[in-house]
Amino acid sequence: MKNSVLLWSFGMLCLLLCVSCESGKEKDPVEERVSRLLSQMTLEEKLGQMEQITGGGYADYIVNQIKGGGIGSILNEVNPEVINRLQKTAVEESRLGIPILFGRDVIHGFKTIFPVPLGQAASWNPQLVEAGARVSAVEASSAGIRWTFAPMLDIGRDQRWGRIVEGFGEDPLLTSALGCAMVKGLQGERLNDPSSVAACVKHFAGYGAAEGGRDYNTAVISEEQLRNVYLPPFKAAIDAGAATLMVSFNEINGIPNSGNRYLLQDILRKEWQFNGVIVSDWNSIGEMVSHGYAESLADAAEKALLAGVDMDMENHVYRQHLTSPVKSGKVKEAVIDEAVRRILRLKIQLGLFENPYTPTEQPVFYTKESLDKAKKVAVESAVLLKNENNLLPLNNTIKSIAVIGPMADAPHDQLGTWVFDGEKAHTVTPLATLREEYGSTLKINYAPGLNFSRDKDKKQFAQAIAAAKASDVVLFFAGEEAILSGEAHSRADISLPGAQKELLTEVAQTGKPVVLIVIAGRTTEIYEQLPLVNAYLFSFHPGTMGGPALVDLIFGKAVPSGKLPVTYPKMVGQSPIYYNHKNTGRPPAGKIETIDEIPLEAGQVSLGNTSHYLDAGKDPLFPFGYGLSYTTFQYDDLKLSAQEIGKNEQLLASCTVTNTGTVEGAEIVQLYIRDWAGSVTRPVKELKAFDKISLKPGESATVSFILTADDLKFWNNKNQQLLETGDFTLWIGPNSAEGLEGRFRTKN
Ligand code: NOJ
Repeated sequence: MKNSVLLWSFGMLCLLLCVSCESGKEKDPVEERVSRLLSQMTLEEKLGQMEQITGGGYADYIVNQIKGGGIGSILNEVNPEVINRLQKTAVEESRLGIPILFGRDVIHGFKTIFPVPLGQAASWNPQLVEAGARVSAVEASSAGIRWTFAPMLDIGRDQRWGRIVEGFGEDPLLTSALGCAMVKGLQGERLNDPSSVAACVKHFAGYGAAEGGRDYNTAVISEEQLRNVYLPPFKAAIDAGAATLMVSFNEINGIPNSGNRYLLQDILRKEWQFNGVIVSDWNSIGEMVSHGYAESLADAAEKALLAGVDMDMENHVYRQHLTSPVKSGKVKEAVIDEAVRRILRLKIQLGLFENPYTPTEQPVFYTKESLDKAKKVAVESAVLLKNENNLLPLNNTIKSIAVIGPMADAPHDQLGTWVFDGEKAHTVTPLATLREEYGSTLKINYAPGLNFSRDKDKKQFAQAIAAAKASDVVLFFAGEEAILSGEAHSRADISLPGAQKELLTEVAQTGKPVVLIVIAGRTTEIYEQLPLVNAYLFSFHPGTMGGPALVDLIFGKAVPSGKLPVTYPKMVGQSPIYYNHKNTGRPPAGKIETIDEIPLEAGQVSLGNTSHYLDAGKDPLFPFGYGLSYTTFQYDDLKLSAQEIGKNEQLLASCTVTNTGTVEGAEIVQLYIRDWAGSVTRPVKELKAFDKISLKPGESATVSFILTADDLKFWNNKNQQLLETGDFTLWIGPNSAEGLEGRFRTKN
């Protein structure tokens, strides 16, 4: 019997690495240094520090601006020799010698590419996410990058939204846990370690709530939803020491976030005491003109500054438009000083004044350790969703396999979105792994049928069908190319693109057992094809080592343990869809008549008027938190330490989990609650804690979670966080739809 203690709860998040640098401002040597520098700076030099431009080599127009103190940060310059030359110019040839901060989007790896963030979220493993981020930081910093624009903490509830892939899914607690882990991995033990990279939590806030999943779009979010759903991951990551934050492109409730004083001043600066750098998104300050919130670029610059945006990413409006309002007294120079103070402080904290240069000799890219970690994350990120008659793992009765589908050998596309520096030459695909590891023992009949995911040309179908017929089993690698998800890559149809559905249907008609492996940036609509296949293994784009990871899972060298970090819809029309929805006054109950069962000329109210779709019903295809293993786990013996919990009390909830199968496996044990009535309505379920445990066959563990009153609080629409008295249900189980059930009450 093992004992496993609580891993994550909101209460615990607050204990994480709380880094605060506010107290004792003037006595702090860092603050004194900042003040000294600031006192020597001209207005032009101050605005220069607030300017971030995109790199362009050691070009004259950049060098001249650096010499004049006109650039605070450069993004997208990754050649360490160029970085060092530019830095030398800043340090030796600008009046005050302030170093430049070089930034880059290192979203899920610099050279060694890890699974896309949504894939990493499927691992539910903060330690792994942290380890992956550490690799990214070591690789990126060795190229001179000390600032990255990750993690993305936007809650995503809509698979149409292309950027859902960049975050950790739909749940605030899971996103908080993994976001903190990524911050920790990127920033390391201390910011001034040369291998540390300042994290930037983004996009503040409510970017994932864009209407219809269309990127950059409008969001309308009530105070209650903002505070209970969208803000918690940001608060957690800031408490964990995230150095910087990026605002989002979109507007919420009528105010574009680049000029949103409520979000940036009232919440971030005042309530949360966030004193790190706030950067705009690319051009997002100027876009307030398009939003119809600013009359001109000059107006936009003022609005962003006064809202609290410290650095202007690639918009150049601060440098161009803030001098005259400061000179005329319309804008106080003290506001500029505060922004510059934060930027200088970050540069000091990163140790850039002492160590401005990057050693260029050490090769830290694609090391064996990094690749092993990337493989481990990819293994834990894959989610087994169907496994009829235990077809997987493939056993040694299989002598020949057909390898079909456009994602079997797609070295670029399996890396996923936001890969600037990772090279496809280092990618190991499933086909390459199969050939390498099983080529001498199995007959491998490779016939992709389609060349890429959007390919509609059926001329290779016949070869694929022949390969299927000639094999014992079909491994069908379907999915989406990398470019079909990510920024501005939303889709209204989230099913398999191109002629993949037709190919899969024709291959399945051969009668051979089919293992469908989908490699994509979102949970692809598969409802109609699922009955055609015997096993379904889902992998968000798995990165450099995706091939070896998936092949280990297929052949049982590794056991699937990933669970969905998002609700998997049956049909795109169910979007947005998420497990922690509200109950409504008319929740569906009992059997729902489907569209085909409705009698002709049925009476208006004969079907029961509840909240559901006639064609898709009420349920998703797979619930949040769902995933199968090659073994089975049994949950027993739920115990709650009390039936009532007061303000300063804790509730210990535990149960026994037993591996009832024949192989060792890992299980993600999830704790959910429901607060039955509140002064604002509460979701039907909320994840409050989780733990990932590994058990040998026959082994049991007691899994314990501690809930505090803080975990049971919620925000109302008046900006109050409340613990109300009332009845709760608590579940501990394998996903958001199943579990052992207990009840307790909160009291005063
Ligand atoms: C725009 C994206 O929204 C943001 O996430 C990214 O960090 C910046 N561009 C910089 O590339």
